[in-house]
Amino acid sequence: MAYTVLARKYRSWTFDELVGQEAVATTLKNAIQSQRVHHGYLFTGTRGVGKTSAARILARSLNCLKSDGPTPNPCRVCESCVMIAEGQDVDVIEIDAASNTGVDNIRELRSNTIYRPARSRFKIYIIDEVHMLSTGAFNALLKTLEEPPAHVKFIMATTEPQKVPATIQSRCLRFDFRSIGADRIADHFQSILEQEGATADPAVIRRVARRANGSMRDGLSLLDQLLSLGNDTLTMEMIDDLLPVPHDEVLIQLIRQVADHDAAGALMSLDQSLAAGYSLERFAESLTEQLRTLMLLNVCGPDTPLVDVPAGAKEAMLELSGRFEPETYVFMIAVLEELRRDVRYSSLGRALMEAGLVRLASSVRYKSIQSLLSELGSSGTDEGGASSSVPPSQSPGNRTTPESPTSPSQSGERSRGGQNTGSGSVRRTRSTGEGEPAGPAPRSSSTPDSTSGKSSASAEDLRKATNDPTVRQALELFDGSLVNVERVHTKKK
Ligand SMILES: Nc1ncnc2c1ncn2[C@@H]1O[C@H](COP(=O)(O)OP(=O)(O)OP(=O)(O)O)[C@@H](O)[C@H]1O
Ligand SMILES: [Mg+2]
Ligand SMILES: [Zn+2]
Repeated sequence: MAYTVLARKYRSWTFDELVGQEAVATTLKNAIQSQRVHHGYLFTGTRGVGKTSAARILARSLNCLKSDGPTPNPCRVCESCVMIAEGQDVDVIEIDAASNTGVDNIRELRSNTIYRPARSRFKIYIIDEVHMLSTGAFNALLKTLEEPPAHVKFIMATTEPQKVPATIQSRCLRFDFRSIGADRIADHFQSILEQEGATADPAVIRRVARRANGSMRDGLSLLDQLLSLGNDTLTMEMIDDLLPVPHDEVLIQLIRQVADHDAAGALMSLDQSLAAGYSLERFAESLTEQLRTLMLLNVCGPDTPLVDVPAGAKEAMLELSGRFEPETYVFMIAVLEELRRDVRYSSLGRALMEAGLVRLASSVRYKSIQSLLSELGSSGTDEGGASSSVPPSQSPGNRTTPESPTSPSQSGERSRGGQNTGSGSVRRTRSTGEGEPAGPAPRSSSTPDSTSGKSSASAEDLRKATNDPTVRQALELFDGSLVNVERVHTKKK
């Protein structure tokens, strides 16, 4: 017997079987129950989250022959139900807008709407990828969509709602399908594996579910691939062989090593990933994704809906997320993005990546440079010239150097890593002559501002600053150059 891919074999039959789309399912069921079914629907959402499935379920609900009228629980066995599930029903016409973009296609559709359905209550048009229609086709659709015959329903689906004209959108009810949480996908996998007579460790299932990135179809395709290896037990090794992505665990380990300034360890983790066949570019991407997750946990808090952290890993991720400041995340992501672009075209990609990781592992020391410079400012030259900006303009890291002296931070790492003076011990006033109170300079002062009356650095200033050991250390770490040294006055109290 021909093999049916899992995604087709396990297409949801009822609203209750649609995983992770409860809001949409409940609203549609209520509409059917109260006989308030609209004549036009627009289903939006990324690929493989249940739009076409929901459209067919709605069509079955409207047309099930076993029931006297529309029912939220179609029978599954009548001819209508079966044919609709296969996309073959005479009265439920599925149109792929991607290959029927023209105005003629829609004109034909329009002239057919006047004919009554062959055997069902409604003639239902399911228009997939509706955003692909031409402007002319959209216009031709408008009139029919506004006032279709009573026996006609439209269900449109799109992954790109922003490309669907407002005139069309305002004539339908729009339902946004959500990306499906990894936990929900994992549960669904579990039940499918049972039905397929296969088993897998929960950690293995979760890992595949995370790789699905919110799309059930993508997840099921991965599961298909794993099952096609012929083993009834899925293992981590099979995933490693099949899915070319660094282990999440290796990345987390690497980030932890960065937090510990363990450059050597970070390089070993990189080696581990590359040895498993992952490309440098993919490595950079995945590491960035992990850092993003940690950054959002740090900035938005543990309950943010913006990231999807598996329950099992949450505590460890939260702990790790607190080990960097938001600025450091910005710095690290910027460095990695630059690396990702660079390694693609470089024959020395690996060296670049390694240098980048060493740089990241030094990033906590990098954080303290500001306070090093501030110290230089308060102990420095006759005018107390604190050089408040050292950024080599091409370096994202230095661009994000936090201007204010680091506050005694949540992260013990930082105060350990640098001569962190705390904000109170650095007295600086900007050279506006306004006699502003001493304290950390505002963040914006890291941008050289020629209009604010600050005198820019003289060659002598630059020479002095460059010779200062703390500045030298900073320059060495980040192979930078001094591009500007602000002259500031320090008020002695
Ligand atoms: N919410 C869901 N619950 C259970 N299974 C789902 C869900 N969404 C998708 N699937 C599975 O993925 C397959 C494809 O889903 P469907 O065709 O409904 O996605 P779609 O949103 O229309 O995607 P596309 O935008 O790519 O057309 C289904 O056959 C089903 O196996
Ligand atoms: Mg679809
Ligand atoms: Zn039926």
